[in-house]
This record gives sequence, C-alpha cells and structure tokens, in this order.
Amino acid sequence: MKRISVIGTGYVGLVTGAGLSDFGNNVICTDIDEDKINQLLASDIPIYEPGLKELVDRNVSAGRLSFSTDISASVKNSEVVIIAVWTPMGDNGEADLTAVKSVAKMIGENLNGYKVICTKSTVPIGTGKKIKQIIEKTSGGSNEFDVVSNPEFLREGSAVKDFLLPNRIVIGSESEKAQKVMKQVYRPLFINETPIVSTNVVTAETIKYASNAFLAVKISYINELANLCDTTGADVHIVARGMGLDGRISPKFLHPGPGFGGSCFPKDTHALVQMAAEKEVEMQVVSAAISSNSIQWQKITKKLDILFADSLEGRTVAVLGLTFKANTDDVRQSPATPIINHILENNGHVKAYDPEGIDNMKMLFPDIDYCDTHEEAVNGADGVIVMTEWHEFRGMDLKKVAELMNGNIIVDARNILDPKELKRNGFIFDNVGRPNVK
Ligand code: UGA
Repeated sequence: MKRISVIGTGYVGLVTGAGLSDFGNNVICTDIDEDKINQLLASDIPIYEPGLKELVDRNVSAGRLSFSTDISASVKNSEVVIIAVWTPMGDNGEADLTAVKSVAKMIGENLNGYKVICTKSTVPIGTGKKIKQIIEKTSGGSNEFDVVSNPEFLREGSAVKDFLLPNRIVIGSESEKAQKVMKQVYRPLFINETPIVSTNVVTAETIKYASNAFLAVKISYINELANLCDTTGADVHIVARGMGLDGRISPKFLHPGPGFGGSCFPKDTHALVQMAAEKEVEMQVVSAAISSNSIQWQKITKKLDILFADSLEGRTVAVLGLTFKANTDDVRQSPATPIINHILENNGHVKAYDPEGIDNMKMLFPDIDYCDTHEEAVNGADGVIVMTEWHEFRGMDLKKVAELMNGNIIVDARNILDPKELKRNGFIFDNVGRPNVK
C-alpha cells in the first residue's frame, strides 16, 4: 500500500482521498484553505455527498486518513501525489490552470526522491506535459518523478459508490514504473477485475473530455427529441426505452429535462471545443450540444408562460428543486437559476425549496422567499415547477399539494410526477416530451 497525498479537498479530492484510504493506502488530504481543513479535522464534511461522512470517519478512525494544510511536508512524505485542485472555466471557455500550475511548482520545490505525480483534476489535453516541465524546472532538473493522468469519472450525488465500484480505471503514463505504482494504489479494484485502461498521458486526458462531452451530447439529443415529441404526440420515455434496449445505445443518460448543469459538463464541453479550435479542429457535434443546452431552459419557461396565459405578473410560483441534479447541494450552472430569473423578470413571486441546496442558492438569490418544506413552498402558490428529481418530490402527496395551492398549474421539468395522478387531482400541467398522456 502507498503513502499518498491528495492536494485539494473539493469533492473530487475528498472522495478520492477517502476512497484510496479505504483501499488500504495511507492518505493525507491537503488544502490551502485552513477553514476547510479545520472542518475536516472536526469530522465535519464541507459538502453534501451521500456516504462520504461514513467513509471519511471509518478511515480516520483506522488511522489511514488525515488532513493537513502543510502541503510541502505531505508531499515530502508521499510516494504518490495526487493533484485534485479546481480548474474553473476561463473567459474564453478554456480551463483555468492557475491552481494546477502553482501546485506543480510546489511539488517540484519539495521533490525529495522518486514520486508519481498524478492529475485527477480535469485538465486540458497536454497539461501532463506542462506539469512535467514545471516540476523539472522547479526541482532543479530532477527526473526523480513520473507524471500520470488518472481521470475521475465520479458523479456528484453518487460519488462514493462511483469511486469504490468504478466502471473502469484509466491510467495514463509513458512510464512502466508509474503504471505499476498506480496499479498498487488501486490494488483492490485490480484484484476485483475492474477494467484498467493503461495508456499514455495525452490519451488519458482525452478520454476524460471525450466521456463527458459524449454524455452531454446524449442529453442534448434526448432533450431535442423530447421537444419534438411535444409536438408530435409521441412519449419520449418510451422512445428512450425503445432506443436504449439496443445495447449499442444503452438507456443511460437518456432522461430529458431542463438541460445539463453542474460544474463539469458545461465547463468541459466548452473546454473541448476551445482546445480543438486552437488546433484548428471543429467539434461541431459538441458545439451543437452546447448550443442546444443553452436554450433548453427556455422550453420549460415557455411551458410555464403558456399555462399562465403569458402573465406571470403578481403570480406566485413554487420552485421545487434548486440544485443541478438530485442528491447534491451544488447549484453551479443549475437550470433552476434561469427559471427563477425568468419568473422574477416577469414580476412573478418565487417560493423556493430544496432539500440541500438552499444555502448555496441564497448566494445567487438572497431575496427570494425560501421555505423549509415543499408543503410550505406550495402553500398558496398559483403554480409549481419541479426542477430537480429529488425522491421527496417523486413521493409528494399530490392531493395535499392541490389542497394547499391557490392555483392548479404544475410544470414537471424532470418528468417525475405521474400524469394520471396529476390529472386525477385536477392539475393543469405540462412535462417534457410526454404529450400523449395529458
Ligand atoms: C459528470 C459525469 O457524469 C461524471 O462521470 C464525471 O466524473 C463528472 O461529470 C466530472 O467530470 O467530474 P456530474 O456533473 O456530477 O458528473 O453529474 P451527472 O449525473 O453526469 O449530471 C450532469 C447533468 O446532466 C445534470 O444537470 C443532470 O441533471 C443532467 N442529466 C443527466 C440529464 O439531464 N439527463 C440525464 O439522463 C442524465
């Protein structure tokens, strides 16, 4: 088992550190953010991620996982250094590598013997090479290290499960020694016969963007099909099932909705297009998915406008779900944001509820009316819009919702409510691509 330091305790870094310690490695998770490290030392997890607290607590108790702000010392003590700092979207759609570069510099300055330097952050294709150059320079020409690209494929909301039971592990490195070290890091998975793709750095970096962009394309495709179904009378869910049963297509990521959000797909699709453009390659398919996604929320507001006969003025709309997907507290690039803006711009009143995302949404919309329960949000509302597929909303008592509301309009932007139930309870409603069930 290996001595590992993970730099960056965002959701990728923290899940990676906790997961690798669960595999038996000795892991120090580090960050420059003292508050975050103090929180973690106090056994308080800064993000909402199901199962993460249990995973962290278990491994801290076993003495395999610790936290520190002393990044230099932990680098010196480690055989493997994992870079998991953030790479936000820059002004032109490219990934901003400032944090990655400064970490690489610091690793070079603390190199004291052979180490594997592994990137988990989603970095532009070619970054591994740059990291290598920076470390060579700042370490005074040392070649006592190898650079590895080991992209992460975990999803917020199911990150722990995705980490412990991955579909595949991608290890990109030209060095056989580094490939061997990484296989030891993932030993339990290796023994379990999890497929391992061993390749070079640039191919591994490409696999990460290729995977995220492919899934984004798939979502935009089903969203456009749903928009078509809205006009033809076909049911998009049965279309998706009929397509997905073909093993070449697969039913996954064929759920239509208000458009993809979060910290990954919007950023990574833009970065891929930007990177390709720099090499004079056009990524027309990915560009189309971005453009389609940028207007998908408008299909939802159009439905709301139609049901409100084009006048939201003075109307109260309960927005159920603020996060970009269920089981997270993350509201970055959440489709709920343009929806709320639309209601406010049309002089409507918003009552917002989310099981986990309210604190984060308050930073974007400090002045809307936040509620503690979905019942409180729908109470007195003229309409309801379901923006996130939380189980709580799937299981809502629609009879009670109807009694509490002032009006009877519902837009289900995630297709999680039963249209027959909605009809039975007297709602006037719309969803995404299921016109034949109204
Ligand atoms: C995504 C990828 O799925 C992960 O494999 C990857 O590791 C991660 O990005 C990353 O690069 O870090 P994540 O953004 O957490 O994970 O969430 P997803 O479950 O992929 O959902 C992304 C967006 O697509 C959400 O807004 C979701 O609501 C939407 N979506 C997803 C749909 O609209 N329909 C679907 O069928 C699936």
